[in-house]
Amino acid sequence: MASHDRGHVKRVVALAEYIARREGADVDVVVKAAELHDIARGENGGNHALRGAEITRKLLAENPEFAEKVAHCIEAHSFSSGVKPETIEAKVLSDADKLDAMGAVGIARAFIYSGENGRSLEDTLKHFEEKLLRLVNCLYTETAKELGRERHEFMLEFYKRLKKELKFAETCTHKSVAEQERKNEVCNHDQNQNVL
Ligand code: NI
Repeated sequence: MASHDRGHVKRVVALAEYIARREGADVDVVVKAAELHDIARGENGGNHALRGAEITRKLLAENPEFAEKVAHCIEAHSFSSGVKPETIEAKVLSDADKLDAMGAVGIARAFIYSGENGRSLEDTLKHFEEKLLRLVNCLYTETAKELGRERHEFMLEFYKRLKKELKFAETCTHKSVAEQERKNEVCNHDQNQNVL
C-alpha cells in the first residue's frame, strides 16, 4: 500500500538513525530494524510486527544476538502486537514510526490511506481524533518529543480547519443566512474547546 511504501521505510530509517545518534542508541541495530520493520505488512493474517520479528530472526540467523536485538525492536514498534519496547533501540524505532504518521507527512499519508480504502473525509477526521492527535503522547525519547511537538501543532491546526469547513458545509444547506451565521458562531466556540 502506498501509505506504507518504500518512501515510508526510507523516512523511518532516516528519523531512526537521527534519533539513535542523539540518544546514544546502537545505530546498527536501529537502522536494520527500521529497514525491516514493515517487512510483513501486506501479508494476510497475523500481526505484522510479530510476524516481522519472526522473519527477521530467520534473515539474520547467522548473528543470533544481533538478530534478537533487531527482532525486539520490530515486535515492539506497533501497539497492536501488545509487546512493550524494553530497550532504547526499540523505543527509537517506535518513535521514528510514530513521527512519520505526524505532521504534513502524517496528514498526507492519512489521506492516501483514505483514498486506498474509500474512507470519507468525516471518517478521516475521526482517525485524527482517535489516533493521529494522540501520537504526541506516545513518544518515548526526548529527541522524538522535540520533533513531535511541532508536527503535532501543525496537524492540530489542520484538523481544526478541516472540521470547521466540514461543519460549515453541513450548516449552510437549507438554512437561512441568519441561522447560518449563528451556527458559525457555535463552530467558533467549539473550536476553542480542547479537541481531545
Ligand atoms: Ni511503519
